[in-house]
Amino acid sequence: MRQLLPTPLDAVDPLTLYPFDHRPRPASRPWLMANMVASVDGAIAIDGVSGGLGGDGDSMAFRAIRASCDWIVAAAGTIRVERYRIPRATEETAAVRVATGRSEAPRLAVVSASVDLDPELPLFADQRYGEARPLVITGANPPADRVEALAGRAEWHHTDTERPTAEGVLAALGERGADVVLAEGGPTFNGQLLDSGLIDEICLSISPHLVGGSSSRIVNGSAATIPADLRLDRLLEHDDALFARYIRT
Ligand SMILES: NC(=O)c1ccc[n+]([C@@H]2O[C@H](COP(=O)([O-])OP(=O)(O)OC[C@H]3O[C@@H](n4cnc5c(N)ncnc54)[C@H](OP(=O)(O)O)[C@@H]3O)[C@@H](O)[C@H]2O)c1
Repeated sequence: MRQLLPTPLDAVDPLTLYPFDHRPRPASRPWLMANMVASVDGAIAIDGVSGGLGGDGDSMAFRAIRASCDWIVAAAGTIRVERYRIPRATEETAAVRVATGRSEAPRLAVVSASVDLDPELPLFADQRYGEARPLVITGANPPADRVEALAGRAEWHHTDTERPTAEGVLAALGERGADVVLAEGGPTFNGQLLDSGLIDEICLSISPHLVGGSSSRIVNGSAATIPADLRLDRLLEHDDALFARYIRT
């Protein structure tokens, strides 16, 4: 992988970059970074999943970006189709995390109102002894049978409202000690984060493909109003894919 901006550099490892970036914690909540991959024509999924857009560079960037946060949060739609697992760090990644003041692996939170989460999803079914369970952030009165179905496989955070707000989700993670939260989508949830003015940083992988179709964009459903301005902090390239780090100005 090479760095194009701010200074051209041959052969950089993103694991030596992203975890060391400055992410000042806003006064009342954690710093929020979002990471998404999109094709050159803006598609975020092929046949309903993002895997076809990835490549070696995306895997490297993904690992480094995950090494930069305390908590990952993803909405239930993404958890279901992408078949999420508990985030686990390699020895190398864990060492970088610990050296930068974080736990060995990030925790994962799932946002769901319906709690329509199959206990046989890898996230719930494949848990190792002593490993932190996923946190399900849900509303005040989720369906009791679905909560029961996940007994012993999840921790719970119930917001005061019927449906968690984007602010409520970040507050829940802030209460659990998060300084940096990484949102991994999907676009519906990203729309709420953007509407609430909570996105501090966007890591965007541009996959060198034209996909066509009618895929969602990286942010969906939010009203297009005053644009949020971004500053390009860094640009990396690998096998024609681009990895941009943008900061909200
Ligand atoms: N290219 C990429 O980087 C990338 C990244 C992530 C996802 N994706 C793709 O995006 C698609 C999924 O995205 P999506 O926009 O359809 O769905 P999504 O945002 O992942 O999930 C929507 C679901 O999340 C829950 N949710 C969202 N906001 C909530 C809130 N405020 N309170 C409670 N629950 C809330 C609801 O789940 P319940 O129905 O359980 O209540 C809702 O149905 C998939 O195709 C996936 O492959 C792509």
